[in-house]
Amino acid sequence: MNVRTAALILSVLHAVCGQSPVVSIRPRTAAVKLGETVSFHCHMTSGSQPVQLEWKRINNQPLGDNIKLGPDGAVLTIANVRLNNQGGYRCIVTNAQGKSTITATLSIRQPPKVRVTPSGPLTVRAGESVTLECSVSGKPRPSVSWFKQQGGSETVLVSMITDTTASLQVKVMAAEDAGIFVCRAQSREGLAEGRVELELEGGASGPQASVTDTDLTAVEGQSVTMHCYATGSPTPVISWSKLRAPLPWQHKVSGGSLTLSNVGRQDSGQYICNATNSAGFSEAYVQLEVDSPPYATILMDETVVRPGDALRLQCLAHGTHPIRFRWMRVGGASMSPGAESTKDGLLKIARLKASDSGTYKCVATNHVGSSEALTKVTVRGV
Ligand SMILES: *[C@@H]1O[C@H](CO)[C@@H](O)[C@H](O)[C@H]1NC(C)=O
Repeated sequence: MNVRTAALILSVLHAVCGQSPVVSIRPRTAAVKLGETVSFHCHMTSGSQPVQLEWKRINNQPLGDNIKLGPDGAVLTIANVRLNNQGGYRCIVTNAQGKSTITATLSIRQPPKVRVTPSGPLTVRAGESVTLECSVSGKPRPSVSWFKQQGGSETVLVSMITDTTASLQVKVMAAEDAGIFVCRAQSREGLAEGRVELELEGGASGPQASVTDTDLTAVEGQSVTMHCYATGSPTPVISWSKLRAPLPWQHKVSGGSLTLSNVGRQDSGQYICNATNSAGFSEAYVQLEVDSPPYATILMDETVVRPGDALRLQCLAHGTHPIRFRWMRVGGASMSPGAESTKDGLLKIARLKASDSGTYKCVATNHVGSSEALTKVTVRGV
């Protein structure tokens, strides 16, 4: 008996005896966001035809009007997924020999949402306590916690956490117990926050100072204005000072702003806005950098040298760094081919000739401006 005959006999036997269905489903589980579309494919891996294919929900609810069955009923598609589509879907395949069932599961992903009650701002009397409730939803279930915000930092608070809520008891004894309370829910689908502000009745709240620019740059001679704002109750009083130095002589303070006119390099530094009320004080800082154009000088006005001597001319400059130096001759004469100038303003000519006599110019340049200095060189034989 050859191979082909054997195969033929087998398939005849198969057809006679039949075989109950073996099915598989793809995917076995799916997790999607609300509004998305998902499909499950059910197919028979072996078994005799003809088969009948059927889908059911495992809770025996009807499939729902956003569910469609695809070619031969083998593909179940859920369009625009809703919360009630969540659960198991059973694919049932029946033939003359029997019946086989397989289940796929749909779960829904939802970014966290929070709702804080009561909503703020809340005014409480000293000694009174309030309960802040944060109800959370989302899939997977987000983790939830309460924080208190205080001057740019956060403190985690201990709260009672159940399945879907985190309740926080706050007892307000003094102004510093009041403030902004934040409930934060987080899962791999995202993050959500709810906040409520608690105020002490008739109480003061500490100032919070802030400046519009923390870094300012000005050029010598300009005017500079720094703005400072403060929150708090009672309304804080704003004062300005300079770190480790008195305020410049030409300054004016008005409504929280500090104006410096005709600034100089010595006015560079850190300025402090101090907001004060009966509940405390808060500081904010401004760093001022005053740039100045270079002011160039040459050590000697005039140099008399003999032919063959070496020449060294040093150019110096004040002003904001970096400063670049450039040497040239006045009146269009060309620089000696042996001339060499360094980054820090030194001009060197190794062996002078009579033709090197003349006026030399140093130009110092920075990002604000430039400045020149002149010196005269006379090469004279004995
Ligand atoms: C800000 O004001 C408070 C209270 O008046 C004071 O204690 C503090 O030293 C002040 N800070 C500066 C930098 O002046």
